Amino acid sequence: MPRGVFIVFEGLDRSGKTTQTEKLTDYLNSIGKKTILQRFPDRAEPVTGPAINNYLLNAKSIGEQKEGMHLLFAANRWFLAEGIEAALAAGTNVVADRYSFSGVSYSLSKGVPQAFAASPEIGLLRPDIVLFFDVDAATVAQRGGFGDEVMEKAEFQALVKQNMSQFADKDFWTPIDANKTIDEVHENVKIIAEKAIATASELPLRRFEP
Ligand code: TMP
Repeated sequence: MPRGVFIVFEGLDRSGKTTQTEKLTDYLNSIGKKTILQRFPDRAEPVTGPAINNYLLNAKSIGEQKEGMHLLFAANRWFLAEGIEAALAAGTNVVADRYSFSGVSYSLSKGVPQAFAASPEIGLLRPDIVLFFDVDAATVAQRGGFGDEVMEKAEFQALVKQNMSQFADKDFWTPIDANKTIDEVHENVKIIAEKAIATASELPLRRFEP
């Protein structure tokens, strides 16, 4: 049996990732390709979820407890890692709404050093493909709901975008024009995801290395 494929969506807040991860998961299941959706942070994860949710909704400043929060976001991924690996081994595709790339880029933007930001990710599964939702910070700042959570500030989002560009040369990094309509973006996502599923399931899964 071929393994499942691990597809990650990354990008700024309000870039359309959540809508598109849901649409892709529904589509893949509708054509008989078993797929689960995993959101990061997973606020329902019992150990780290409540603390992360409390920070996002109630922190007085973005940089509050930045090192501790960084480790909590990473721990949230580690608590979900076994489940993701089991699903992939059983032939189920996993679509993730954010992953380590948000973990590193958001914390770097708060001033956490690069080595500290990257090290808790070592050993986690590397996705087969990352769909990077490319949109300007100024555009997301105008979208509905922006500003509800502590990190939704236009200048901070611009810094996150700059820090995320460090991954642009990775072979798994695939930019998506997220300024288009929901249906146009979905069509584009479908094509890229189906191609990834056709090719990646034959390749071994890899992990983040030091
Ligand atoms: P969400 O809006 O996609 O639920 O994400 C909540 C916020 O958490 C968002 O501003 C990005 C941020 N974040 C981190 O700072 N570190 C992480 O590791 C992850 C996954 C998200």
